[in-house]
Amino acid sequence: MFDRKRIGTCAITVLWLLCLAGCSHTPAKTAQAEEHPWWQHAVFYEIYPRSFADSNNDGVGDLNGIASKLDYLKELGVDAIWITPCFPSPQVDFGYDVSDYENIDPMYGTLADFDHLAKEANQRGIHVILDFVPNHTSDQHPWFLDSESSRTSAHRDWYIWRDGKGPGQPPNNWLSTFGGSAWTYNPKTGQYYYHYFYPQQPDLNWRNPAVKDAMFDVTRFWYKRGVAGFRLDAVDALFEDPNLHDNPVLPGKNAFGDPIEQNKYNDKLPEVHDVLRGLRKVADQYNAVLIGETWTDNIEQLNRYYGHDNDELQLPMDFLFTTVNRLSPAAFRKQIAAVNSASGWPTFVISNHDIVRSYDRYGDGQHNDQIAKLMAGLYLTLRGTPIMYYGEEIGMKTTPPTRRDEVQDPIGRRGWPREKGRDGERTPMQWDESVNAGFSRAKPWLPVPPTYKTHNVADELKDPDSVLSFYKQVLALRRTNEALLDGSYIPLNEDDPNVLSYMRLYKDQAVLVVLNMSGAEQKVTFELGSHGFSSATGLITTGNSAATGSVVTLEPFGVFIGQLVK
Ligand code: GLC
Repeated sequence: MFDRKRIGTCAITVLWLLCLAGCSHTPAKTAQAEEHPWWQHAVFYEIYPRSFADSNNDGVGDLNGIASKLDYLKELGVDAIWITPCFPSPQVDFGYDVSDYENIDPMYGTLADFDHLAKEANQRGIHVILDFVPNHTSDQHPWFLDSESSRTSAHRDWYIWRDGKGPGQPPNNWLSTFGGSAWTYNPKTGQYYYHYFYPQQPDLNWRNPAVKDAMFDVTRFWYKRGVAGFRLDAVDALFEDPNLHDNPVLPGKNAFGDPIEQNKYNDKLPEVHDVLRGLRKVADQYNAVLIGETWTDNIEQLNRYYGHDNDELQLPMDFLFTTVNRLSPAAFRKQIAAVNSASGWPTFVISNHDIVRSYDRYGDGQHNDQIAKLMAGLYLTLRGTPIMYYGEEIGMKTTPPTRRDEVQDPIGRRGWPREKGRDGERTPMQWDESVNAGFSRAKPWLPVPPTYKTHNVADELKDPDSVLSFYKQVLALRRTNEALLDGSYIPLNEDDPNVLSYMRLYKDQAVLVVLNMSGAEQKVTFELGSHGFSSATGLITTGNSAATGSVVTLEPFGVFIGQLVK
């Protein structure tokens, strides 16, 4: 399931000409050039609640911690927070094993704390998005405890139970994406149950209408509490072939030592779209947004998730973008063009809690801060909705464990050393230079990376050249700039091997974005006349990057974002 990006490991001059673009620094009302649903102009921000802010000093973040940082998020320019699962859970998969969908895990607080957070967020104009885990529950969920208790229990058919092929032989060859067989034997009832992920995460049987009804009700429960939408976890895996055909086996072994399989019979089955259409109908009653964890291989697959009549997911995540692992203008151009040709509104993600942080994915080890700004200059100025990941805005780096006995994420323990797990991208948020980076006064559940001394919110807020200051400037610009919000994407100088350039054009207004993806200075000349413009004026630039007429000069990894003038 994971396309896990495990690779290797400036002075900014901001031209405060934002007003020229009709932009104000203080987040004001978002420009509504056209009638757009709220989520198309919003900037989303993913919060891993264990790691964001710990209000009760037990070493694990919590909802009150998040509430205490809402002013920071507002000032940053965030419109919606997506909180990864905070529901009661044995925490085998750190919350993605839910044992009660309609409550809050005590480690994160209470339902009253959630209500408080939602109210405070709404007062600041920030929407709250929760993570909905429809594919599987925890093996400690009362539904599963009943299901496994006997073959005739009321919930038996809520999960996928099958006879083995013979003694000690699972029903077929399907593998868990977290290692080993996808089937676990239950001696009490003499059958196997299916789990796409850990054995502690049994898959729900979505062919059973009772499951569908119960899960749809879960979404209503949270909508009524003020939730503005969901990120749908692992939707690709919702259905499996009822005839249990074996998956084709491909050459090689994965990090767990298992054969590599093509998940032909347990991934992206057409039935998932019926469920998504149903969930969307409910969401529409609450003006809510559905974001999908959709690991699509191509635009046809992505289009299917938007739905034939745009009646499924509004924001299926485009992980195709995260498959570009190096600073290659050609590769990004191709991916941007593909996403722009899709049938729905683009969504851009460059980091999350399952993949190596963008800071390391693109950083060259020497210019990482500059490259972090370059990436912000890219995904925050494209046509579409960006989903940020906490800490990306301060240049947090992936810090994987160095010893197996330090690993928290079970896939890291099982796959060590080839698969070190996902702890590295889930380390505590770096708030300041104080003990534990201001995340907690107790020992945090994961170690704070040493970079908190150089990369933290407090210091970066004071530094106009920091990664954080750059993010704030770009977010402020896009908030009210009609070309950035609604303009079409027009690629420019498409043969340039070093510099990615494009125009965002809205009516007679245009913004030029020029991104130097090389470590050498670059000078780029544009044919602006053919688009009706004569020159560019810098709005946000890094270092000494600047324009003279229609020629833009960029420092290594430099960014130029400018207003086009007639
Ligand atoms: C999704 C989550 C991941 C989790 C898995 C199983 O892929 O993003 O963190 O482990 O689902 O729920």
